[in-house]
Amino acid sequence: MKRQFNLQNRRYIGNKYKLLDWIFDNVQRNCDGDTFLDIFAGTGVVAERFLTTQKKVILNDFLFSNKVIYEAFFNSNRVDYRHIEQVIEELKELANNSKSQNYFDKHFGDKFFSKKDARKIGFIRQALDDYLNDKKLDQTEYYVLLASLIYSTDKISNTVGHYDAYIKGKQISDRFEFNLIQNVDTTSNEIEIIRGDANKVAETTKADIVFVDPPYNSRQYSRFYHILENLVEWKKPKLYGTALKPEAENMSDYSRSSAKDVFTDLIEKLDCKYIVVTYNNTFKSKSTSSQNKITLEQITEILKSKGDTKVLSKSYRFFNSGKTNFDDHKEYLFITKVAV
Ligand SMILES: C[S@@+](CC[C@H](N)C(=O)[O-])C[C@H]1O[C@@H](n2cnc3c(N)ncnc32)[C@H](O)[C@@H]1O
Repeated sequence: MKRQFNLQNRRYIGNKYKLLDWIFDNVQRNCDGDTFLDIFAGTGVVAERFLTTQKKVILNDFLFSNKVIYEAFFNSNRVDYRHIEQVIEELKELANNSKSQNYFDKHFGDKFFSKKDARKIGFIRQALDDYLNDKKLDQTEYYVLLASLIYSTDKISNTVGHYDAYIKGKQISDRFEFNLIQNVDTTSNEIEIIRGDANKVAETTKADIVFVDPPYNSRQYSRFYHILENLVEWKKPKLYGTALKPEAENMSDYSRSSAKDVFTDLIEKLDCKYIVVTYNNTFKSKSTSSQNKITLEQITEILKSKGDTKVLSKSYRFFNSGKTNFDDHKEYLFITKVAV
């Protein structure tokens, strides 16, 4: 069975996939060490890129779905893919024949997915918990299958890539295919996976290099990816509004007016040799939700108080083939050598 999904094969706002070479080359040139902490890891693509040069890689993000994805891709070297393939075939068959309504098709059918696809997704999600409880799956297999379900679900959603709204007024076709993820070879690395608030993690986790890529505007990741969070947590909560969101959880202070204070607190707490921060200057953006909560000057000042700081920048056009209207849209990379 083809392993369809690589780590980067999901739609995720603010992911740094297209900037990886630039980030990697500059970190290599300016930093040394063998432990790397990606403290707002998102998709995990930045952490993945550093596996070749770092002995230990630590990933943190406060979303439940991201933790499952990290466990599946980075912590499953010894997983038995043959067994997983058998289970997938069995689940596909059972899901195809499932006649009764479940939480997922009741709420999201004919909205974010076709009715039939939502039924299959909900059926498989429940079956994964049942199989784990009945010891038909071990914990690692469970993570690989659940991450595969996340990627398979995300691929067919009737959205523009996040779940703030579904696209209305169109016939949604049945497209769901339960496909597998391809895990990452981490046999030469030590991997640590954390699901926590970055500022708390900074109090207890040491690393040589810390990569800091927080949200900078008011868009809350937990609200954008609520369906994936809901699918992973599987607590079947009550839903509200036309986007069918549950009650808010994991709301980031980085997306509020407190952003500058939490950023300052984080940088003060980090126990490391180098801090690498990415930032893009959409501060003056016309849409209020994409206006940055911290300015370039503020970030520079906060980082300089921690140590010698280099500021590198790259025109957005460079990696977006000129498709954007923001003439002065730039991506910044700060590299701070922490003063001892
Ligand atoms: C800009 S994205 C990171 C993108 C990532 N570098 C990538 O390439 O995919 C910011 C991430 O920070 C997470 N986040 C926001 N506030 C957080 C907090 N207080 N603690 C931990 N994670 C947080 C979000 O869930 C989101 O995944």
